[in-house]
Amino acid sequence: MTQIEHNIDPTLPATRQSGQHAESNRNSLSAGANGPLMLHDVQLVETLAAFNRERVPERNPHAKGSGAFGEWEVTGDVSQYTCAKAFQPGVKGRMLARFSTVAGEQGSPDTWRDVRGFALRFYTEDGNLDIVGNNTPVFFLRDPMKFPNFIRSQKRLPDSGLRCNTMQYDFWTLTPESAHQVTYLMGDRGLPRTWRHMNGYSSHTYAWANEAGERFWVKYHFISDQGVENLSNEEAEKIAGEDADFHRRDLFDSIAEGNFPSWTIKVQVMPYEDAKNYRFNPFDLTKVWPHADYPLIEVGKFTLNENPANFFAEIEQAAFSPSNYVPGTGISPDKMLLGRVFSYPDAQRARIGTNYNQLPVNMPINKVNHYTFDGNMRFFHSGNAPVYAPNSFGRPYADDEGVVENSWQVDGELVRSSYELHAEDDDFSQAGALVRDVWDDAARDRFVDTVAGSLATVIEPVLSRAFEYWKNVDAETGARIEAKVRAGAAEKGEIPGGDPANA
Ligand code: HEM
Repeated sequence: MTQIEHNIDPTLPATRQSGQHAESNRNSLSAGANGPLMLHDVQLVETLAAFNRERVPERNPHAKGSGAFGEWEVTGDVSQYTCAKAFQPGVKGRMLARFSTVAGEQGSPDTWRDVRGFALRFYTEDGNLDIVGNNTPVFFLRDPMKFPNFIRSQKRLPDSGLRCNTMQYDFWTLTPESAHQVTYLMGDRGLPRTWRHMNGYSSHTYAWANEAGERFWVKYHFISDQGVENLSNEEAEKIAGEDADFHRRDLFDSIAEGNFPSWTIKVQVMPYEDAKNYRFNPFDLTKVWPHADYPLIEVGKFTLNENPANFFAEIEQAAFSPSNYVPGTGISPDKMLLGRVFSYPDAQRARIGTNYNQLPVNMPINKVNHYTFDGNMRFFHSGNAPVYAPNSFGRPYADDEGVVENSWQVDGELVRSSYELHAEDDDFSQAGALVRDVWDDAARDRFVDTVAGSLATVIEPVLSRAFEYWKNVDAETGARIEAKVRAGAAEKGEIPGGDPANA
């Protein structure tokens, strides 16, 4: 690690990559001042070749984002629920956060309406603990099979390469479990003022286990100490044109000025046995657990106080993953989460490279001893220690047996099926409760405007289905949305949804 850190010293006279004196960073070697260039100009060849390889593929999804390092501190006492060292009273440590939009590409405006990624890494003495959540407590789907289709429907059309509201709504309305998240997205929190002014959520339910091996289910909440503030549609649109990097800039400048944002870490904890008969399926990512059922318990706080020294090395190459959990924490039977546990490391091997875990930003602070071997760009190695397990030559290998404590009981046939419904499970009632019980009249008005705006270019048969979708969320609000879309089309002398014959 020290060698990596000290290999490049920007104060030294320029060299070539292999340490030799660099002849010139300004002039290529040519046969006479006006003549052709020489292939043996190592400096030129190295410069052009390295440039061609500067980028790694952007994240798919969550390509546009940025982040910072910081510290977390445990101020509460949740030791009765988890033995994770990271969450024991008084513990402090270094961490990393990255915020992002979901659908936009690198360079897309930070203030487009979208869910925001809220990825956290805690560098703990037991290895990296990553909580890769969003700024919303729910998600669009509950089966990972649908995820790539969902993301494609939110990105760009295959022919024109344009974004398309019809495509987005086609997917959403054919996937009604999306209603809660889409309602959230079209509400005020779909346009956070800055990353500092939004909350984060694990969204998923995770497992915790205490010293005695008792199991619990938890949802993490990261409550902004700056308060929640959002942009209006008009502000967001204006900023998107003026400064596509508005959120990235805000975070970097705030930290550079010593104005360090912080969040309070809280959890909802459900006893293991409650899961079976809780009124909502607690592993269904489209549902929240009402706080009246499981109140928030304070764990601690994290503060972002250190900007990246190098965006590419420390943010672009950061590889967050829900598979990074530590003893005392674990995953749950949430099918989406199970899909993600596979998907992220796989994406990162492809996006960054086989040995992405050896990059300083991804390296845990504890020393490692694993039996993965070689591969592109392997830097750290185990010397001549045995490369196989078991072995007779003293290299420790793992051999856990028996019940896995941060896990759960399963039974039954292998099936392809959606989750079994719990007493109050359906696709629309929590979305309706958000509209009716959480928002005030002004918020509902803004929501109607936003949704009607998003439907202005949607064509049939999707448009009619979208009206039904919103009426299923809330009959009155849905009717207002339909009336507004129809009135808008009439004003322009158009048929709402275009001519169905051409759809
Ligand atoms: C089955 C469902 C999902 C799949 C297959 C999936 C897959 C991915 C992949 C492949 C990446 C890029 C990773 C990389 O290249 O480093 C990514 C990024 C991300 N995803 Fe997901 N995702 C899923 C659902 C979710 C959910 C439910 C959340 C939030 C609760 C979420 C939050 C994020 C965030 C925050 C990032 C960006 C991480 C960063 O800042 O580096 N994803 N996802």
